[in-house]
Amino acid sequence: MKILVTGAKGQLGKEIARQAHAHTLTLTDLDELDITDHRAVTEFFRTARPDVVIHCAAYTNVDGAENDPDGAFRVNVVGTQNIAAGCLETGARMVYISTDYVFDGQCNSQHREFDIVNPQNVYGLTKWQGEQIVRHILGRHYIVRTAWLYGEGNNFVRTMLRMAEQGGPINVVNDQIGSPTSTVELTKAILRLLDSDAYGTYHATCQGYCSWYEFACEIFRLAGKDVDISPVTTPAFPRPAKRPPHSVLDNHMLRMTVGDPMASWQDALKQYLK
Ligand SMILES: NC(=O)c1ccc[n+]([C@@H]2O[C@H](COP(=O)([O-])OP(=O)(O)OC[C@H]3O[C@@H](n4cnc5c(N)ncnc54)[C@H](OP(=O)(O)O)[C@@H]3O)[C@@H](O)[C@H]2O)c1
Repeated sequence: MKILVTGAKGQLGKEIARQAHAHTLTLTDLDELDITDHRAVTEFFRTARPDVVIHCAAYTNVDGAENDPDGAFRVNVVGTQNIAAGCLETGARMVYISTDYVFDGQCNSQHREFDIVNPQNVYGLTKWQGEQIVRHILGRHYIVRTAWLYGEGNNFVRTMLRMAEQGGPINVVNDQIGSPTSTVELTKAILRLLDSDAYGTYHATCQGYCSWYEFACEIFRLAGKDVDISPVTTPAFPRPAKRPPHSVLDNHMLRMTVGDPMASWQDALKQYLK
């Protein structure tokens, strides 16, 4: 299979490149292909002619997007439209990576794929608009929503370990709940979907959930770090972008179709820290 990966220098792109090495890969990031450049994307597709595109490139700075809504829109909506149009013209299947931030996280149950969305910040809104564009343009698509992602790159796990090295007390919010998900586990689910023609919308997060505080405690426990850590509430830790308080996704569609290969968040974290 000829697979084109966008955002290949990002956390998820790097893991896809590692796990999908048996396929013919074209790895692109901003330097090779700016997805917001319609003409460049069209020409790139005509030359590369991929069978599949795994579209990982995105404007992922959630707080930055609040002050730069046009920048986030350009990458997450216009960029996604360009990629979907390239897939349409060349007949490629498309995987679009989306987010739990399409939901408001106000209910205490787990969100299934067809629950009503209600994004609470610019990033979530633009990712939802990107989803809609993919649905409108392409039949053969997989929209894969994930959350609290960590892999090779800057992420919460690395931030916590760095803060532990620096010493001093650490405050972490304890009233936002989600499912920490490793890029290793997410990539397994994506590759399983690609082996099928079960197109549609999927949730793909590691099993189980916790607060950021509980996540941090588990990171320190597994890493053998004795850290002075305290739980705090969201208002004590103000950020530009509003976050959903209970952001737990149910991998219902995976279970109903190809099977859910994803490990528990604790096992995935253990693997990552090894
Ligand atoms: N991280 C999470 O917690 C999380 C949660 C849910 C969903 N997701 C989604 O999962 C996907 C992968 O996330 P990730 O954490 O791997 O993101 P990431 O590490 O930020 O990687 C995204 C990559 O896209 C590149 N990019 C940005 N603008 C571009 C453009 N105009 N043209 C081409 N490339 C561009 C970035 O380059 P620069 O670094 O140079 O900007 C970066 O290398 C994204 O779609 C994201 O929305 C992430």
